[in-house]
Amino acid sequence: MEPNTLGAQPTSPLTRIMAGIQERHPHVAPGPVDDAPSENEPGHPEYHRKRRAEWALKRWSAAVPPRYRSAEATLPAVQAWADRVAADPTTAGSLLLTGTTGTGKTYEAYGALRRIAAAGSTHPYEIRATTAADMNGLLRPNGSPRGVEEELRRLAHIPLLLLDDLGSAKATEWVEETTYRLVNERYNACRPTIYTSNLPARSSSVPDLASALGERIVSRLSEDTTVVAMTGADRRRRGAA
Ligand SMILES: Nc1ncnc2c1ncn2[C@@H]1O[C@H](COP(=O)(O)OP(=O)(O)O)[C@@H](O)[C@H]1O
Ligand SMILES: [Mg+2]
Repeated sequence: MEPNTLGAQPTSPLTRIMAGIQERHPHVAPGPVDDAPSENEPGHPEYHRKRRAEWALKRWSAAVPPRYRSAEATLPAVQAWADRVAADPTTAGSLLLTGTTGTGKTYEAYGALRRIAAAGSTHPYEIRATTAADMNGLLRPNGSPRGVEEELRRLAHIPLLLLDDLGSAKATEWVEETTYRLVNERYNACRPTIYTSNLPARSSSVPDLASALGERIVSRLSEDTTVVAMTGADRRRRGAA
């Protein structure tokens, strides 16, 4: 008998099967079962991208309030920003959506977060959404059992943060200081944030973010932030909701 290339004394069932195959079909080389998977099979990059997108969209669904469940990023500038975050969150910078009440800022913000999830990028999809008012409450001395420093650390470290309605309440010195620390830490760590505000970033004629939150914060924001001014009527009054 020909010497068996897989060993003369097959022991395990698998070895015996492989030896049998080799004997009967010597031209068949052992190897991966499927070395050219289709995009619906494990091993194909598209298969894994889709699984990551499904997982991220589940996280998005868990974080989004019911009102914004159908949110989409509709503006080209917002879509482009979301695509940059999906490609590389460390170079995308932040997004500031400004506009009066009802122009669709929160909708657009959740839409951007959904678009990032749907991209199925390899970067971790962890999001946190809070209004600036809730954040201020949390970061007040005694505002949280975890303590201000721990809350601030969590907000600074989450890969994607939505900070809604920035500058809507009169900022105390304390709020200004903690907001600055958060904005600055996220800026230094190159973590993207979506800010929304009823106020324009800067204006000489109407109240602006710089006067509500302090020049320091707005100058930090202006360094790496895509500003998108949303216009139009109040969608809530139009009954579009
Ligand atoms: N592009 C859109 N398509 C459909 N509904 C929208 C759109 N943008 C906003 N809305 C709806 O209009 C209402 C106001 O939008 P919202 O994002 O809350 O405004 P803002 O945050 O600027 O005050 C919400 O009920 C929202 O779901
Ligand atoms: Mg809003």
